[in-house]
Amino acid sequence: PTVVVLAGGLSHEREVSLRSGRRVARALADAGHRVTEADLDSALIPTLVDLADPVVFPVLHGETGEDGSLREVLDLLRVPYVGAGPAASRIAFDKSIATTVVADAGVRTPRQVALPHEVFRELGAASLVGALGDQLGFPMMIKPARSGSALGCTRVDEPAQVAQAMIAAYAYGNLAVIETFVAGTEVAVTVLDVGDGPESLPAVEIRPDSGVYDYAARYTAGATRFLAPADITDADARACAELALRVHDVLGLRDLSRTDMIIGADGPVFLEANVAPGMTETSSVPLAIEAAGRDLVGVCSSVVAAARR
Ligand code: DAL
Ligand code: MG
Repeated sequence: PTVVVLAGGLSHEREVSLRSGRRVARALADAGHRVTEADLDSALIPTLVDLADPVVFPVLHGETGEDGSLREVLDLLRVPYVGAGPAASRIAFDKSIATTVVADAGVRTPRQVALPHEVFRELGAASLVGALGDQLGFPMMIKPARSGSALGCTRVDEPAQVAQAMIAAYAYGNLAVIETFVAGTEVAVTVLDVGDGPESLPAVEIRPDSGVYDYAARYTAGATRFLAPADITDADARACAELALRVHDVLGLRDLSRTDMIIGADGPVFLEANVAPGMTETSSVPLAIEAAGRDLVGVCSSVVAAARR
């Protein structure tokens, strides 16, 4: 087969995606695969139609790549691809739906309110702040429901900051989620699901120098210290692995996923799941692979093989 590494796209995470794509394409080439790199543009479908036996490795972050729409098109074209199908992607990519679904399955989540922009405009920030404060307390996290790389996310410590944080979230889409802030250790757990059932890789601990794991902390070399494996107790490591495997299963994810969580006072709390997690030089999935004693070349290869099952 020819592996089509699909990166770029039009989401706000385009630059990140190009960096992830380059790394995955290199790994697959090193594994001996025939690799074509493609962007999400008008040439994509002719490229797929012309190839004899294509497999797509979508490394498109954000809308289209992770929200299920691209995967719907690939299903229609009957082209196999790495990762979750359209329905699972749609659910996982929406933080408000994903949180509800995993909470229903017994996974600990932050308390969360989802607020459409129309409702925010109608009721006004002033009347919402009191209600949100009563329900969630401060500090809270305000996020776009459908985005990635922490774009549009703000930690809010007091009522005066709510309105601006809501507006920042709506810059990325018409639904915002407001959550209780969970204090603790942030970790990311990769699940590899390429053979005899899903397995979790060692948790990676995330320690941004600035204290906030925002876009700059994610993609500036040296701005965040990653501990792989995380410096956590065995009991916490087991709980994190269990949470990630449960989320992977409940959301119907496939091949490779990453679940982000915070280990709070009572154990890990779900933050979000990623259908096409970052694969850049500063992303946690490649670090988890290394901490597991594997290499990216081999893992990318097995993920492609799994996609063709
Ligand atoms: N959304 C970015 C790429 C990540 O989760 O790694
Ligand atoms: Mg994400």
